[in-house]
Amino acid sequence: ASETLKIHVDQDKCQGHARCKALAPELFELDDYGNAHETGDGTVPTALIDQAWLAKSNCPENAIVIDEA
Ligand code: F3S
Repeated sequence: ASETLKIHVDQDKCQGHARCKALAPELFELDDYGNAHETGDGTVPTALIDQAWLAKSNCPENAIVIDEA
């Protein structure tokens, strides 16, 4: 339960649907083109782990990657 998760947006896949930003606003920032990028270095705070998985599962392009850091 002490694992650290890191989230990442694959820029080759992201098409700017922004569901990630709606579901987990602290974890993503949108650029000028509307594409999402992980906030900071992508480390997911423990309190936001559920939101991270929710965002990943709701991205229509499957552009969100979650890895154990
Ligand atoms: Fe991009 Fe998927 Fe978010 S397409 S903007 S990572 S919902």
